[in-house]
Amino acid sequence: MIPNDAIRGHLDRTLFKVELPSSFGERYQGKVRDCYIDAAAGRRIIIATDRISAFDRVLGTIPFKGQVLNQLSAWWFGKTAAIAPSHFIAAPDPAVTVAHEATPLRVEMIVRAYMTGVTTTSIWYNYERGVRSFCGNQLPEGLTKNQALPHPIITPTTKAPPGEHDKNGSREELISEGWVTAEDFDAAARMALELFAFGQKWAASRGLILVDTKYELGRTRDGRLVFIDEIHTPDSSRYWYADDYAALTAAGKEPRALDKEYVRRWFVDHGYRGEGDPPVMDDGVRIEAARRYIQAFELLTGTPFVPDWAEPQKRVEKSLRAFFEANR
Ligand SMILES: Nc1ncnc2c1ncn2[C@@H]1O[C@H](COP(=O)(O)OP(=O)(O)OP(=O)(O)O)[C@@H](O)[C@H]1O
Ligand SMILES: [Mg+2]
Repeated sequence: MIPNDAIRGHLDRTLFKVELPSSFGERYQGKVRDCYIDAAAGRRIIIATDRISAFDRVLGTIPFKGQVLNQLSAWWFGKTAAIAPSHFIAAPDPAVTVAHEATPLRVEMIVRAYMTGVTTTSIWYNYERGVRSFCGNQLPEGLTKNQALPHPIITPTTKAPPGEHDKNGSREELISEGWVTAEDFDAAARMALELFAFGQKWAASRGLILVDTKYELGRTRDGRLVFIDEIHTPDSSRYWYADDYAALTAAGKEPRALDKEYVRRWFVDHGYRGEGDPPVMDDGVRIEAARRYIQAFELLTGTPFVPDWAEPQKRVEKSLRAFFEANR
């Protein structure tokens, strides 16, 4: 693990945004990623910036977050290539993936293995309020907070157009409302459960519990259904430490988490839940958040994180130019 002072030295060199010439493609800016889409070539450049989002808003930057997310996701795509086809082509820069452009399904596959969560769309929030049929899944009586479900379930959610909120639904609802075809839904669900089972097994071998995750899938130009965006990162997944999970939950305490929850918590403790102007993250919380992202990378991959110290904005453009020069 790199020392805190090294992270501190990078606090004002984070990657907030990348502006590339239009020759790289049409720009699309998500909350975390800056994309450049070349539709004719069927290709998308995906730059993982250091922006962090919570409560559906961008709340600042975390040193090395983009590099961690990009490299961790690329590592997972490599590791799971045999069971989970993906959009991945290459990672020409620590913070950049070049991918096959896909037409995203209009539903996201959320896979959950535990009874947890505090937001209104989460399974525990609903279960606590008496819901026993959640997104088409029948839930047994008597489950407690943070307990494992009898088996992982899929709770699909729509990918709402910008400005509208995503909503949960059952397979039948989402198909009859026209969000997705039965064929696509069933293929995606099968792929998601298989990938999740692999992720759980791997996480367990590394002392972690993969609690739940969100998958996006899409169809490539040649008609293949593939995983897109990112997989099994601390942004898209909940992870808990396995060693003290049983003791903590038995004592009625929260499991130790290795995901974005830490940052969400900090905002809540500072009186922010998504309304109005967010407080500005101080150095302490930004450094600790960086440590946790790096920790997730190192635990999951079993290799040390090697930070790239170069000024990221310039480096990204240089890496991409070299990549396309070599792959003309
Ligand atoms: N291979 C791909 N083909 C098409 N779209 C993709 C692919 N990979 C990722 N995407 C899209 O690129 C964007 C990545 O940006 P980011 O993750 O920052 O977005 P977000 O804030 O999560 O969502 P939104 O796009 O709704 O703002 C997402 O819209 C994602 O669906
Ligand atoms: Mg995203």
